[in-house]
Amino acid sequence: MNHKRTQKALVVAGARPNFMKVAPLLKEADAFNRRNEGKFPRLEWLLVHTGQHYDRTLSDVFFEELRIPPPAVNLGVGSGSHAVQTANIMLKFEQTCLAENPDWVIVVGDVNSTLACTLVCSKMGIKVAHVEAGLRSFDRTMPEEINRIVTDALADLLLTPSGDADENLKREGIAESKIKLVGNIMIDTLAAHLPEARKSRILQELGLKPKSFAYVTLHRPSNVDDPQSLAAIMSSLRKLGESLPVVFPAHPRTAKMLAQFGIDNRGSGGVKILEPVGYHASLCLTENARLVLTDSGGLQEESTFFKVPCLTLRPNTERPSTVSLGSNKLTRLDRLASDLDEVIHGPAEKGQIPPLWDGKTAGRIVQAIVEFDERSRTETAAIE
Ligand code: UD1
Repeated sequence: MNHKRTQKALVVAGARPNFMKVAPLLKEADAFNRRNEGKFPRLEWLLVHTGQHYDRTLSDVFFEELRIPPPAVNLGVGSGSHAVQTANIMLKFEQTCLAENPDWVIVVGDVNSTLACTLVCSKMGIKVAHVEAGLRSFDRTMPEEINRIVTDALADLLLTPSGDADENLKREGIAESKIKLVGNIMIDTLAAHLPEARKSRILQELGLKPKSFAYVTLHRPSNVDDPQSLAAIMSSLRKLGESLPVVFPAHPRTAKMLAQFGIDNRGSGGVKILEPVGYHASLCLTENARLVLTDSGGLQEESTFFKVPCLTLRPNTERPSTVSLGSNKLTRLDRLASDLDEVIHGPAEKGQIPPLWDGKTAGRIVQAIVEFDERSRTETAAIE
């Protein structure tokens, strides 16, 4: 019989979109301990930062704004090719697991850190819970799609945001008993931080009026790593800037590519190119934008929450409810001008908020993990 009084988990974050997903989990584990009164093992959930993102604007700012405790361990892996980055995370994370001996590793999203840590644990016999499991773009040219498929094939507990994700997993032959629909974790953070986001001074700083600017973020290799595609995007933005101010905080990958291809990287006319903005400023820009143009998964969801029309410059999305229910529409470079025109002349608010975007997902996740442990304990006790 397992008499452990503490259940230890390493919660992994590596890149910008991970930080808003781990913040509510760590907070909820603390809340669980305060309520627990010794009935269940105490949750000792420690944050591991892989260091995949290391710039202040992509990492530290989120720790400060979301009040995430400093990581117990920072692997400091930095950038590299996919193989180099994944392998470096694996080498270092294996040492962390040997030193910490966790019962669980909790991974979020679909970045290289998610995949690397899952691979390590699956060989060490450490249980893995994947938050945001089951999303599929069905496009294996996206590195994230490979990360999603492999992570979900190996994880022990698949915590899904939406019904479509459950269906994807079942189609891949994953046992239903491993799948738990918990809702959208991003919305927990959004709901908790909306009052602060609404106090952001970003509109005043940039001289913008609500509902009269476009908020643009683009960083996918498929859009920004190709000189022709990036030049065509920038030329569409300049055209859009003639009728609507365009705010474009550029991810370091995008900034690097603009410089490398000799494309204007400071912005001109109606286009303002900025450094990446923090979480509160980004939410404030999204809520107040007339339209969002993006290739980010997070922005598709946040604009859906605010019912702000969003064009996603990608051939597919792993978040289909943002299109079927929300305010999102997929677009292509050769259709971008007409799609932008349609949005500008259409309603300023559209769509509905999908189910389980209610700010209570972290609570359901903690409960699912505790119940998984309780079930295993009962089963072990029955065998003994
Ligand atoms: C990663 C994720 C992507 C996510 C994105 C959010 C993978 C495969 N990709 O893409 O899913 O949407 O984060 O931002 O995990 N760089 C810096 N400073 C940093 C980090 C990166 O300057 O702190 C530069 C480096 O030149 C690096 C490049 O950005 O080579 C790309 O970084 P990387 O972590 O490889 O992927 P992202 O494009 O950020």
